[in-house]
Amino acid sequence: MRHLIDILDLSVAEIDELITTANDIIDHPEVYREKCRYQKLATLFFEPSTRTRLSFEAAMMELGGNVLGFSEANSSSASKGESVADTVRVVSEYADIIAMRHPKEGAPLVASMHSGVPIINAGDGGHNHPTQTLTDLLTIQREKGGFENLTVGLCGDLKFGRTVHSLIAAMSRYAGVRFVLISPEELKLPSYVKEAYIKSKGIPYEQTTSLEEVMPKLDVLYMTRVQRERFFNEEDYLRLKNSYILTPEKLGLAKPDTIVLHPLPRVNEISTAVDNDPRAAYFRQAKNGKYIRMALILKLLEVR
Ligand code: NCD
Repeated sequence: MRHLIDILDLSVAEIDELITTANDIIDHPEVYREKCRYQKLATLFFEPSTRTRLSFEAAMMELGGNVLGFSEANSSSASKGESVADTVRVVSEYADIIAMRHPKEGAPLVASMHSGVPIINAGDGGHNHPTQTLTDLLTIQREKGGFENLTVGLCGDLKFGRTVHSLIAAMSRYAGVRFVLISPEELKLPSYVKEAYIKSKGIPYEQTTSLEEVMPKLDVLYMTRVQRERFFNEEDYLRLKNSYILTPEKLGLAKPDTIVLHPLPRVNEISTAVDNDPRAAYFRQAKNGKYIRMALILKLLEVR
């Protein structure tokens, strides 16, 4: 039985295979309509979500399967003090596959040790978010044609942004990739991420506080929200939340074929005036999330 806890649980070849399947689903959705008939996906969300949970549920429905679950910790027995281990042991008797989001780093890993069915990490605290990364990769593949030789700028909350950590781990496996890390001093990429996926692999990178300065060299600009819920005090959040706001003027400094990604939700780090620029790929990215999750469900349930 396979779980997806960390994006590196999947080999480069397996990611290629998932992208191929997702692209085939986009072209031939009718072929997939009954693939998961009588199977159930449980979404156990101990933390808020819109895209991740609903795209998982839509994905299972479009495969002909059913969904069950909860969307906040308060409506589950966690509020009575039940452990993740016990919740999962029970839910894996009701469902064939489980997607779990949790505010505690490592909770989905613990869940996988007690589950009788595949566990998918749908975001654990400020740690990882592998299915967002699959969404990002499908989008980069569709928009840029592949992953090699790309200069990837990551901007905003690189400290708490779990999508950033997983994307760097995934992109570090492709030849010729360079990273540009754009953040305020206080929200720099954690050193454990930088060490493991950038420095120890000898990948070229630069760190800056200025988005404008590096804009002309980026092939991909990955914008992120300042992660308010992970701050210890509101004052720091208020001070840092407007560090970067992408406007049409700033995007004017970018190459004609740069793409702008954002895992969403957006607060104000991308002006809505950017939305109509063809380089703004974030709503296409959100749409891709459903297709890559369909491919992932098929793979983990070993459906042919
Ligand atoms: C992200 C997350 O939950 O980490 N959202 C998502 O899954 N698309 C990003 C965020 O909340 O800022």
